[in-house]
Amino acid sequence: MLKLGVIGTGWITKQFVAAARATNAFELTAVYSRHEESAQSFINQTAPATAYTKMDDFLGSDVDVVYIASPNSLHASQALAALDANKHVIVEKPLVATAMEFEKLDEALHKKTSLYLFEAARHVYEHNFQVVNDFTHRQQIDGATLTYMKYSSKYDAFLAGKLPNVFNPEFAGGALMDLGIYLVYDAVAWFGVPDNAVYLPHFLKSGVDGDGVARLDYGDFSVTLITGKTTNSSLPSEIYSGRQTLTMDNAAELVTIKLDDQVLSTEKLANPMEAEAAYFAKAITGQDRNAFDKAWQLAKEVHQVMSILRTSANLDF
Ligand SMILES: NC(=O)c1ccc[n+]([C@@H]2O[C@H](COP(=O)([O-])OP(=O)(O)OC[C@H]3O[C@@H](n4cnc5c(N)ncnc54)[C@H](OP(=O)(O)O)[C@@H]3O)[C@@H](O)[C@H]2O)c1
Repeated sequence: MLKLGVIGTGWITKQFVAAARATNAFELTAVYSRHEESAQSFINQTAPATAYTKMDDFLGSDVDVVYIASPNSLHASQALAALDANKHVIVEKPLVATAMEFEKLDEALHKKTSLYLFEAARHVYEHNFQVVNDFTHRQQIDGATLTYMKYSSKYDAFLAGKLPNVFNPEFAGGALMDLGIYLVYDAVAWFGVPDNAVYLPHFLKSGVDGDGVARLDYGDFSVTLITGKTTNSSLPSEIYSGRQTLTMDNAAELVTIKLDDQVLSTEKLANPMEAEAAYFAKAITGQDRNAFDKAWQLAKEVHQVMSILRTSANLDF
């Protein structure tokens, strides 16, 4: 059983802990929060564990794996500290806010080859993601349009004059970092690293992108990514192959995959984080270096593209 410690006590951490416990490979043993009450309340709502408000004590505990779901700009430094304390790490997307942060993590992992670090890009581990992957690696591709736009639960507060972390440039917020990254994962896994990429954002007054469109150039075809946090879109996503079109109801929440009128796969997950939790547990307990290398290489390519997209839009964190 892997001892799990968590950083951040928001709803996503609760969902991950539920998924991790459902695999029967993790037990929650430590919860870090800036506030004792938040840590205790989290424990009361999830499972018995020790509450910590000092990071050194938390990282000095006997946890095997640290899951990080703090604001984006804290991910890299907290992951580095966890590696330094000889813990495996699972970090919420986006793993890093800059290319330099990725390099530092890469270097740290080269020095600690027995430790694994995973970016929790949950949909990549789902069955339907593989269904699409099988299609794109078998068929000629002539282009794609991938969409993920959701009205943020924090947007009303932003409109009322508050500055939630996800809309704050100091915490590396914005649509590309929060939702666009799912689409970049899609594109890189399904089509590879593009020759060129540009991002055209619409900026909010805080300085982050509220929505935007990215164009990824693959030479023979191009892929359009549409993302946003200020409106809801029910546009399906499409991958074009000659006369055939593969359709997904949503490029980051892959429920139904169709090839023209034929349903290839349909899957509604009760907890969409279970597949990733199972993958991480299997890789860590089985010391499966290939499983880690595969995920790390994909993350590396995704963050190269993310960096190009940010640079093209002057989105510097
Ligand atoms: N995979 C998914 O489906 C999914 C869904 C949602 C979010 N996420 C990712 O999860 C991460 C957290 O998202 P969120 O919406 O929960 O973020 P958040 O509410 O801004 O912060 C998450 C936690 O971080 C701590 N925190 C908040 N502000 C902080 C600050 N100024 N300094 C230090 N710690 C602070 C808080 O925990 P304490 O008060 O206990 O310290 C809070 O519960 C993000 O990276 C996001 O992209 C992933």
